[in-house]
Amino acid sequence: LGLKGRNTFGLDAVADIAFEVTAPEQIAMVMKQINEQNLPWRVLGGGSNVILPKVLPGATLLMNITGQEIIASDQNATVIAVGGGVNWHEFVAWTLENNLPGLENLALIPGTVGAAPIQNIGAYGVELADYIDHIEAFDIEKQAFVTLSKDACQFSYRDSYFKQHPQRFIVTKVVFKIPKSWRAKIHYADLAKQFEGNSNPSAEDIFLAVCKIRTHKLPDPKVIGNAGSFFHNPVIPNEQYETLLKKYAALVSYPDVPGKRKLAAGWLIDQCGFKGQRMGNVGVYENQALVLVNHGNGTAQDILGLAKCIQDKVRKEFGVSLEIEPNIF
Ligand code: EPU
Repeated sequence: LGLKGRNTFGLDAVADIAFEVTAPEQIAMVMKQINEQNLPWRVLGGGSNVILPKVLPGATLLMNITGQEIIASDQNATVIAVGGGVNWHEFVAWTLENNLPGLENLALIPGTVGAAPIQNIGAYGVELADYIDHIEAFDIEKQAFVTLSKDACQFSYRDSYFKQHPQRFIVTKVVFKIPKSWRAKIHYADLAKQFEGNSNPSAEDIFLAVCKIRTHKLPDPKVIGNAGSFFHNPVIPNEQYETLLKKYAALVSYPDVPGKRKLAAGWLIDQCGFKGQRMGNVGVYENQALVLVNHGNGTAQDILGLAKCIQDKVRKEFGVSLEIEPNIF
């Protein structure tokens, strides 16, 4: 099966065997077949955070479990169960239509609901983890369905227990807890700028503002292949940050855990002159240096080659290592 339309980088990839999973019960059966034939395997959600090789050997599970329903509601919160294959942005829009605000800062993030907890998606001052109740998954080690509480998921910046244990869990359902008390979160600089003179925006206003910012800064994968931010924002010790700041007064950074500082990787890459540059079929996006793009016919090798160039130059100039964010299959 061709996967060009199922990965946002638009890479030409073929799956040897593809299994479409539309109900959790199918997973045990598929895994049995994979084990019997000793096949390599992997799970593909929306394909918005992956770098695919030309051929994916063995089995590729295409997660298409849908459905979303409110399963509990009291004066404090609403609990919503959502199938892993539901499109993330459509789910966010649905919560707002149903008067359940909270996720609006995460509008327009590509991918599926089931993939969202793996890397704990985050944007504009909000993280998925803030709204999780629990997660249902198939545990390969136990060969059984398990429920992981929010604590058990060990969420942190772009990280989770799932990411720490690759090939162990297949997320089937994400259960959200949306508090009834809502307040606008517009402290993130880009967003604050949209609301100068309006300190009281509604969730819909924020949803639209986030869509506007993202549309401007991030390329639409349907038009130009990409996987969003290509590197993590690096976290460095305070002493290193102070030294860098003396040399680069304009250095962009955010507070992190005590003793550490998170740098804007996009700024570092931009300073190295990569923004808008092309290297063969791939390049660095013209409006956001943290995003690598496929101009068409690019391969995983091309992308990783460009990534290495960027990593080397940033390390040489700033002494900072950049870690690749999408999963390399
Ligand atoms: N900057 C530049 N040049 C650039 C890009 C950025 O100078 O080419 C500087 C700007 O000063 C800007 C700062 O870097 O103020 C930060 O840039 P931006 O606001 O675009 O955010 P980011 O740190 O680059 C992170 C997430 C995004 C998320 C935004 C908004 C990571 C790795 N990326 O990007 O997430 O949408 O914040 O919250 O944490 C993703 O993970 O795929 C993703 C898009």
